[in-house]
Amino acid sequence: MPSFLPGKTASKVRRIGVLTAGGDCPGLNAVIRAVVKSAVQGHGWQVLGIRNGFEGLISGDDAITPLTNETVYGILARGGTILGAASRANPFLYTKRQQGSRISLDVTPRVLERIEALGLDAVVVIGGDGTMRIARELHEMGAPLVGVPKTIDNDVEGTDYTFGFDTAVSVATEAIDRLRTTAESHHRAMIVEVMGRQAGWIALHSGVAGGADVVLIPERPFELEAVYDRLTHSFAAVQRSAIVVVAEGAHVRGGSPVFRHRAGSQDKLRLGGIGEHLAQLLQERQSDDLVGSSELEWDIRVTVLGHVQRGGAPSSNDRVLATRLGAAAVRLIARGRLGRMVALRGTTLADLPLARVARVPRTVPLTCDLVLTALELGICLG
Ligand code: F6P
Repeated sequence: MPSFLPGKTASKVRRIGVLTAGGDCPGLNAVIRAVVKSAVQGHGWQVLGIRNGFEGLISGDDAITPLTNETVYGILARGGTILGAASRANPFLYTKRQQGSRISLDVTPRVLERIEALGLDAVVVIGGDGTMRIARELHEMGAPLVGVPKTIDNDVEGTDYTFGFDTAVSVATEAIDRLRTTAESHHRAMIVEVMGRQAGWIALHSGVAGGADVVLIPERPFELEAVYDRLTHSFAAVQRSAIVVVAEGAHVRGGSPVFRHRAGSQDKLRLGGIGEHLAQLLQERQSDDLVGSSELEWDIRVTVLGHVQRGGAPSSNDRVLATRLGAAAVRLIARGRLGRMVALRGTTLADLPLARVARVPRTVPLTCDLVLTALELGICLG
């Protein structure tokens, strides 16, 4: 097993690596750029880009690319990641095909050997909660890692905000604004399904920013009757329309989240479809109500925003946060503080041991001021 010096100081560091794991997210390139610029200009280190997350430390040398000030020129405002990302390349459970079937292997020895063979004194690992857990375990095995949290879902424990979230909320809010014009013109209920598996941050923020009538989040299972009552109220009011924002992980009280599965796919189960499911439930509830009544039925339409929320240029806030976190990761390496994740606490940058991050998802506290504000404004949370 390779042995790494615990926390080499800046004078000993010569070369570092950087990789982006998990799903893409606006701001990844801004982190890569900040890492490269501060490592090269501030310390004279070499930086190697590792392609496709941990996959690049498992496969061959063509997955490694030197990064310089020139190669990161112009990437600050670009969405995605110039290094590529892979959400499936978990070195502890590396899946590959063998004789027609899928097998899972522990390839961590290969990862540790590759880090040593490449002469990497540290690797900046940019990823979400799953990636931070992998980084923690690899660090415990001796890998010299520092973590940078990312995700549009804003649900990584240990940091108050992740970059990507601000952009996703802006995209969702713009969608709500656009859907409102159709809702009002046609007197419809528009259901907008946004991302958020366990945490409803995107739904809550975009719902408040877009003035939604109903916001449904995974943290608070909803009562159909409460949603129906709120919509009936909205259709009786002068607006005669309604906007419902629902996080993909939201579910009816006593029920379970809705998953979609493509026939024949080996892919793991993915959340999705709660918007349609809710529309169906509301339609049925409304039909019961309208039996023998002369009231007009209101139409319901569903829009699923999906990966549109993850794509495109990062907002200026996300560029700034990503840049701060990238530079802070290099600062940690320079101080020999490996095995830590950089984080935002309030408005200040902090860092904490990987062992203390991403143990549980950072969900929306139901007593937080934005939940209270939403309720005070009459937004139905189900
Ligand atoms: O974690 C971010 C996220 O956008 C989730 O909200 C969503 O469920 C998931 O990624 C989708 O992942 P994939 O790109 O693998 O479909």
